[in-house]
Amino acid sequence: QKKRRKKWSRYPPGPASLPLVGTMLSVDFHNPHHSFGQLQKKFGNIFSLQNCWTNVVVLNGYKTVKEALVRKSEDFADRPQFPIYEHMGYGKNSEGKSHENGHSLMALARERLGIVVARYGHMWKELRRFTLTTLRNFGMGKKSLEERVVEEAGFLCSAIKSEEGKSFDIHILINNAVCNMICSIVFGDRFDYGDETFNKLSQLFQNSLNEEAGFLPQLLNVVPILLRIPGVPQRAFRAQKELMDFIDVIIDKHMKTWDPAYTRDLTDVFLKEMEKGKTAEENGFHYSNLRLVTMDLFTAGSETTSTTLRWALLYMLLHPEIQSKVQAEIDKVIGRERPPTMTDQASMPYTNAVIHEVQRYGDIAPVGLPHMTYRDTELQGFFIPKGTTIITNLSSVLKDETIWKKPNEFYPEHFLDAKGEFVKPEAFLPFSAGRRACPGEQLARMELFLFFTTLLQKFTFVLPEDQPRPREDGHFALTYSPHPYLLRALPR
Ligand code: HEM
Repeated sequence: QKKRRKKWSRYPPGPASLPLVGTMLSVDFHNPHHSFGQLQKKFGNIFSLQNCWTNVVVLNGYKTVKEALVRKSEDFADRPQFPIYEHMGYGKNSEGKSHENGHSLMALARERLGIVVARYGHMWKELRRFTLTTLRNFGMGKKSLEERVVEEAGFLCSAIKSEEGKSFDIHILINNAVCNMICSIVFGDRFDYGDETFNKLSQLFQNSLNEEAGFLPQLLNVVPILLRIPGVPQRAFRAQKELMDFIDVIIDKHMKTWDPAYTRDLTDVFLKEMEKGKTAEENGFHYSNLRLVTMDLFTAGSETTSTTLRWALLYMLLHPEIQSKVQAEIDKVIGRERPPTMTDQASMPYTNAVIHEVQRYGDIAPVGLPHMTYRDTELQGFFIPKGTTIITNLSSVLKDETIWKKPNEFYPEHFLDAKGEFVKPEAFLPFSAGRRACPGEQLARMELFLFFTTLLQKFTFVLPEDQPRPREDGHFALTYSPHPYLLRALPR
């Protein structure tokens, strides 16, 4: 008892906690990384919060985040409960379609489903490995992922061209292109940009993310009993439910046309695993997980990449001299006609540096995804008990003043050495690090490079004369994204 009390005396400091709400009022949920920055100045790199009755510890700065995620990877590898997700079918209340396959609901009840919100454990490991392997193998298929991105970039350019240099908002087109990459991986097909169902799908992703931040969902996460109030869950998660129904329709259609002799896409590979019987099922390969892994890939893989591309174009509008330097490098290495390939990347240090700086400065996942301690642990002398929610303030790493020369400016030279060669400082962690690091990083890197170079090869992006200068700050809704802006795309 005495020993335990001694340990707790080394629990990280934090702002005073009020009855019931804890320290929730110290954090602006619409701008949490800014609130965390202020608290970091006051309490240091490791401080604690109390969200009603949940213990939360926030980690700040490269050194601290790296030590937790990489050196003590397993201690920090769990995920906290998200009661709101259990409502959407990710958790033990979810019965999904599992009855149809006749497997035990008890098995499901033990672990949360999918990858993103799954507990650290056997099923998460299996599903994560499955996803990584399948994504990698697609690189070697009939039509490699690289070819598919290049093909999609071509469709994107045609759609932009049809705007004929007039001012327009490129947001939806970029969403469509990026969403099509996930469609193509998961369902083996892309949609036409004019397709009504498709537009609805990409719109839904937009909405579903906006619902995850904000005060209501935060409150529901810590006070799940409010979910019992009639109408509240519907209000908070309308888009997510719709999205799930939508995915169910596509999967059902897919299963009806499945021929085990051919592998069309990730869904087919998953169905094949499901065929392997009881062990496979215990490893997580059952219908409920198929729909949730699919959903995870869409939510984690489309909004993130499309937001990064929107920041990239916004910075090109605001820094035309940087845009010209990228175009000069494209002209020199690739020319105006041939589509780019991933091999070109090595000979394009400036373009590569610009893309990395877009990710650093754009800071699209400023507070990452919450983690949870898997066991009692220590970090820089502080005691953090098992089951504590951990927030990795990635923004404080990407803008760590002890590391970056100009943390609060768009400065591609952060990624170039004195000879103009590309260098990647270790504090570049937009994909997080350790066991839970983003498994889509390779795909995202490929999309960012190929979409960005194709766009700048074919167009020069300029601000419409009659528009005010766009805002450089963003809007937080789990991801940090630019406010809407208009541009003109002039064919080169
Ligand atoms: C997790 C960033 C694209 C799939 C994450 C995390 C971050 C992140 C910060 C949280 C890691 C943690 O918990 O510590 C990004 C960025 C992207 C991107 C910046 C694009 C620029 C993608 C793509 C996919 C993807 C294209 C899928 C094809 C996932 C999944 C997880 C994840 C499944 C959960 C991993 C787990 O819990 O084990 N990503 N991501 N992401 N990402 Fe990404």
